[in-house]
Amino acid sequence: MRSWQQIKGDFPFFINNGKGLTYLDNAATTQKPQKVLDAVVDYYTNWNSNVRRGIYRLSEEATNLFEKSRENISQFIGSRNPRQLAFVRNATEALNLLAYSLGHGLKAGDEILLTIMEHHSNIVPWQFLQEKGVKVKFADIREDGTLDMDDFQSKLTSRTKIVSATHCSNLLGTINDAAALAKLSHENGSVFILDAAQSVPHMPVDVEKLDCDFMAFSGHKMLGPMGIGVLYGKYGLLNSLPPFNGGGEMIREVYTDHSTYADAPEKFEAGTPNVGGAVGLSAAVDYLREIGMENVRSHEKNLMAYTLKKEEEHGIDLLKSYGPRSPEVRGGIYTFNLGEFNPLSLGDGLSNEHISIGSNVHPHDVASGLDSSNIAVRAGHHCAMPLTHRLNVVATSRASYYIYNSRDDIDRLFESLARIRRLYA
Ligand code: ALA
Repeated sequence: MRSWQQIKGDFPFFINNGKGLTYLDNAATTQKPQKVLDAVVDYYTNWNSNVRRGIYRLSEEATNLFEKSRENISQFIGSRNPRQLAFVRNATEALNLLAYSLGHGLKAGDEILLTIMEHHSNIVPWQFLQEKGVKVKFADIREDGTLDMDDFQSKLTSRTKIVSATHCSNLLGTINDAAALAKLSHENGSVFILDAAQSVPHMPVDVEKLDCDFMAFSGHKMLGPMGIGVLYGKYGLLNSLPPFNGGGEMIREVYTDHSTYADAPEKFEAGTPNVGGAVGLSAAVDYLREIGMENVRSHEKNLMAYTLKKEEEHGIDLLKSYGPRSPEVRGGIYTFNLGEFNPLSLGDGLSNEHISIGSNVHPHDVASGLDSSNIAVRAGHHCAMPLTHRLNVVATSRASYYIYNSRDDIDRLFESLARIRRLYA
């Protein structure tokens, strides 16, 4: 295998505008290797035409590229049948589609069980169903940042029709035991959905082994273009869902008073699809496959072990981090605060959104301080407000890793954090 330093050389971003930048916001989006950029440019340079519609060779070739991409991505996640994958914009759209389409079959009193570590995209779409009397419940976490399986089981009842859980928390980095959650859900007669936005890019994921009914992920978090994502569903289930968007190519026949629909996956791909995006994502999958997802996972595990060691060695005053201490059950996500930064430590009623006070350095100030050292991290609630509240903080800073990150990046992070701490002390 090539060295991680060589791998970083595949990313034009790091030799152009990103030169010298320590990019630690990979949970938000990743940079793109030359191979992905080339695939997208090649599509638009040589093959651009609308798919499934043209009775000419170019359109057939574009359709072929689109379907080959589906097949390739399908294999990457261990799905035997490529027709179990529908192309969508991103994981958010896949989850909205599921909430809308599965929601048709729900009635007042039915329950949906989520975990408190969900991203807003796996909370808000389900809350739309509260209007019809559906109840949304949350399984709690333990103090160590792992999912409280006792709480999960106690909330899984005969009324729970759907369980939707993240595979890896975008804030804590916690990796949930998806196979165990799927098994418990199925024993209970519930549909199990996996939000794999933070797992498919970082570790081997096999939908058949995990036995999830549906799964969602985004291309841009795994070296692919923005605006392309995947909804996976076991074919029988996927095909039984009512459509989400109506329009061209998702139909069988249209009359003035009604329409009939195509089978999945076309049923969920109304309008001109993002063919260039699918081709780019397929190139990203080839690139990741070449490195090996086991290697990606072990690289990030090493980076996390190094981070936790650095944290202990550096002994930065009032540095507090969140999430499991074992890299075995944690993705490459390091979320932290300089100071207590909880609402109580700041006094009741104080508007604490944008201030650093006393020994507390607001995460936005931490991120700005890191930015001045050319380190990019995310700060805020990370689209996980219920979890942020559960941790009793108003916000946090987050460094998230990928294949082009190294120990040097982590050294720079801690040196800069120590400098920020001194500045505010
Ligand atoms: N979901 C992305 C993140 O966690 C945007 O940053």
